[in-house]
Amino acid sequence: MIGGENFAPELVAAIVRSADAAAAASAAMVGSGDKNAIDEAAVAAMRAVLLRAPFAGTVVIGEGEKDDAPMLANGEQLGLGFDRSLSPEERASYPACDIAVDPLDGTRLAAEALPGAVCVIALAPRGTLFDPRDAFYMHKLIAGPAGVGVLDLRLSASENLRRLADAGGRRVADLTVAVLDKPRHAALIAELRTAGARLHVVGEGDIGTAIAAATPGSGIDVAMGIGGTPEGVIAACAVRALGGFMQGRLAPQGDAERAAVLAAGHSLERVLGLDELVASEHVLFASAPVT
Ligand code: FBP
Repeated sequence: MIGGENFAPELVAAIVRSADAAAAASAAMVGSGDKNAIDEAAVAAMRAVLLRAPFAGTVVIGEGEKDDAPMLANGEQLGLGFDRSLSPEERASYPACDIAVDPLDGTRLAAEALPGAVCVIALAPRGTLFDPRDAFYMHKLIAGPAGVGVLDLRLSASENLRRLADAGGRRVADLTVAVLDKPRHAALIAELRTAGARLHVVGEGDIGTAIAAATPGSGIDVAMGIGGTPEGVIAACAVRALGGFMQGRLAPQGDAERAAVLAAGHSLERVLGLDELVASEHVLFASAPVT
């Protein structure tokens, strides 16, 4: 768990329990080969806990749309604050929150019993999370506090590495960069290798590497590249609570997504800082490992 100081202990406990429940349900199916079935089990377990949680939670980041996976749907309302069997006064006593969830990040990893699958959920006050509607992919740059005022997504990857190394009195060769192993990253990976950085390349799961990048001493100094937008907003909650650095820029991966993103009024040039991804300091992030 990260953050959560401004939420009631009962709510914090329920959110942590929702991640644990999703992990327990997924763990029972690790190695089954059926990633959608595992995801479905995680979603159902998480939803069951959230329905009884002491808050009025609205899902603003539900994961799954881009690959038709089961999901907690955007706009879904959960918690005692929406329980019609309670009086209006009682319902109104629960805090209104935005929920960002990825009940199982790394579905394929869990299906194939590979390491790195994790159940995650984040909370912030209602209306404070960036709503990426129709934007499935985002370019991300994430680091610990050392990256604040030093890194900038508008600069090249190698320039950012040089700056981070200089700021910490280190060499680029001492820095470890996490990148998803995707064909779209071929040029980025080549640039990072030429720059001389150490690479931590993972097949899936960029929430875990984002948190590692934002945590000094984790062994990962910076995370770079294009991954899911929902995962980006969820990671931003953790990074914000950790006092780290993060920027994102929408990066649609096809004509249809590009057209939908533009039609939704998003800019493809705008660099989103942490304040725009999560417009509140009062965040709670909980995760539970599966594999
Ligand atoms: P899911 O397991 O929830 O589908 O996500 C895994 C993941 O690797 C994310 O961590 C990452 O942000 C995204 O998929 C990248 O998408 P893609 O695999 O389509 O490149």
